Amino acid sequence: MGERVSGKSLDQWRNQAKAEAKAVGIDPQEVDWLLRAICDLDSLTLRLGLSQMAGVDLKLSLADLEHRWQQRVQRRVPVQYLVGEAPWRQFSLNVSPAVLIPRPETELIIDLAVDAVERSPQRDALATGIWVDMGTGSGAIAIGLADAFPNAQILAVDQSADALAIAQENVQRYDLTDRITLCHGSWFQPLANYRGKLSAVVSNPPYIPSGILPTLQPEVIAHEPTTALDGGPDGLDDLRIIATQAPDYLIAGGLWLAEMMAGQGELVTELLTQVGAYRGIQVIEDLAGRDRFTLAFRI
Ligand SMILES: C[S@@+](CC[C@H](N)C(=O)[O-])C[C@H]1O[C@@H](n2cnc3c(N)ncnc32)[C@H](O)[C@@H]1O
Repeated sequence: MGERVSGKSLDQWRNQAKAEAKAVGIDPQEVDWLLRAICDLDSLTLRLGLSQMAGVDLKLSLADLEHRWQQRVQRRVPVQYLVGEAPWRQFSLNVSPAVLIPRPETELIIDLAVDAVERSPQRDALATGIWVDMGTGSGAIAIGLADAFPNAQILAVDQSADALAIAQENVQRYDLTDRITLCHGSWFQPLANYRGKLSAVVSNPPYIPSGILPTLQPEVIAHEPTTALDGGPDGLDDLRIIATQAPDYLIAGGLWLAEMMAGQGELVTELLTQVGAYRGIQVIEDLAGRDRFTLAFRI
């Protein structure tokens, strides 16, 4: 239920919430993120200050707003789950605890795919072919690829039906239902009809070694789906499957591109080399200079 409150009382709530945020090491800007999303306030209004406003219409009561904020402060629920959205590249994507919150560092994977296609002798075949986003979660990579390659078809695979329901919302939100097909199942299992037909396999799979999971921030380990994070003992369980099986599905010259954890570059290179079906294996650093992506082409 919405509520009309005085600018002064909302301003007081905002100042107190920001002080609480600082005290527990949360970015105080998140208070304004919540206000923008939940109260329909814009950045300019927030910059000018709320105290001068006679009244502000809230989409929920001040008590509910406070309740949500306490979930952020006390339970460490990520603000993106509290507002139900996360910005990613030029998109604003629906998110829920069923999906990993799409990360800024993953945004680069789309640019890497575009660069790889541009330098491929099979540029046209790749740009107009069938691409797979393995482990699509919110659908972020699939949507980014559909936007970057307007003549490609995208298959978005996930074993989580709940994640696919969120991906479906995002695909609809960006009017991409005729370009992106959601596929439910484990890795290549739902793609039996696509052997030798894929132009590219792109993935941000679970890659965190199981032993490291308990050391992650509470926002991640207590709230994001473990199945999106846990890559097994050395973090490479899923990358191993995707690297080993992809050659059966890729066309000659097809692209293999995956995100990994910083420090896994050497192991993933070794893995792709052992498979013996790839050329041009390349480890690529993220904007912070850490090895975060590996790219290769099917021989
Ligand atoms: C790290 S998240 C990536 C989500 C999204 N692509 C992104 O970049 O934000 C990994 C995703 O892989 C999915 N996944 C885990 N195991 C899988 C499997 N065996 N088959 C298909 N998808 C799987 C998870 O459900 C999760 O959505």
